[in-house]
Amino acid sequence: MIGSINHIAIAVHDLGVASAHWRERVGAVVSAPQRFPKHGVKVVFIAASNGKVELLEPLDDKSPIAKFLERNPDGGLHHICFDVPDLIASRDQLLATGARILGSPDPKIGAHGKPVLFIHPKDLTGTLIELQQA
Ligand code: CO
Repeated sequence: MIGSINHIAIAVHDLGVASAHWRERVGAVVSAPQRFPKHGVKVVFIAASNGKVELLEPLDDKSPIAKFLERNPDGGLHHICFDVPDLIASRDQLLATGARILGSPDPKIGAHGKPVLFIHPKDLTGTLIELQQA
């Protein structure tokens, strides 16, 4: 059902500080920041040879990332995104096995312009998992 890891997302308070730490401390190549107002976040991408890490900074207090940072004041792992070949089939399998989808079970267009859905963390090992149509 799941394919490659598409990205690993980490919530941070300050993209500038976080980007500098990743550059200076581990030699990461960090992209320029991009704003995604519909998703309430500003993002930088860190390229790894087999995938990418996204650092997410909330754009305002209403951002879902702002709520996460209230509960996790040091920031931290926010979600892992996997590509799937058939998002609707994945959704149906989740629902059939008793897992909850966050928000509407109809996929939404994610920050990368492709349909996505999020699995309730309590229904999959306590970690928010995003599935993205490959
Ligand atoms: Co994501």
